[in-house]
Amino acid sequence: MIVTALIVAAGSGSRLGGDVPKQFQRIGAKSVLAHAVDALASHPRVNQVRVVIGKGQEALAREALGQREVGELIVGGVERSDSVCAGLTAVEGDVILVHDAARPFCPPDVIDRLLDAFAGHDAAVPVLAVADTLARSDGKLGEAIDRRNAVRVQTPQAFRLDALRRAYASWAGEAPTDEATVARASGIDVVAVEGDVMLDKLTTAADWARAEFFQEARMI
Ligand code: C5P
Repeated sequence: MIVTALIVAAGSGSRLGGDVPKQFQRIGAKSVLAHAVDALASHPRVNQVRVVIGKGQEALAREALGQREVGELIVGGVERSDSVCAGLTAVEGDVILVHDAARPFCPPDVIDRLLDAFAGHDAAVPVLAVADTLARSDGKLGEAIDRRNAVRVQTPQAFRLDALRRAYASWAGEAPTDEATVARASGIDVVAVEGDVMLDKLTTAADWARAEFFQEARMI
């Protein structure tokens, strides 16, 4: 079974409004993208890593990646799902792990749990329980959502490559924010495995502070 990791790094969002997209900025000695690539490439069950970048980001990406072996860089699109679809047409393998570059730290146990869950299934994703109260809101607070029935869904997300390609081909909705949504809509059973707070996405300044703490404390 060939396992290919596809890291989507084509976003334009930057840390605190700077010029350089956040995936190319550094945490400690290396870029966010390099952390994500290393976390997946160093796993013994991952055979290859490919990276999707934005148009015009080649120089930034090459600098951020250094000598890491990721094959030819794949050019993504306007939405995250466009970038994933560009990746799906370019990669090979039996199983694909679709991962956000903006989640630089991926504990190896999570990858093991995802791949172990594959017996008898076409898809597995990491999830975490929700600690806060959840409620609908349109500015004014609406009804509460029972948090015991809700989870936070992270990446990497694991799929049989051909199944995910078929699922995207039949997707007719708006740009989805992850692949589990697309897979479920096409009738694929998506198994949920335990995620990890280390996988939380870098979005706010507090997320960066936490990531720098993880790095300095050698928790990754
Ligand atoms: O912005 P968002 O949180 O959705 O980004 C999640 C991941 O998707 C990031 O790693 C980002 O670089 C990537 N992305 C992408 N192509 C886009 C938008 C986001 O590869 N058009």
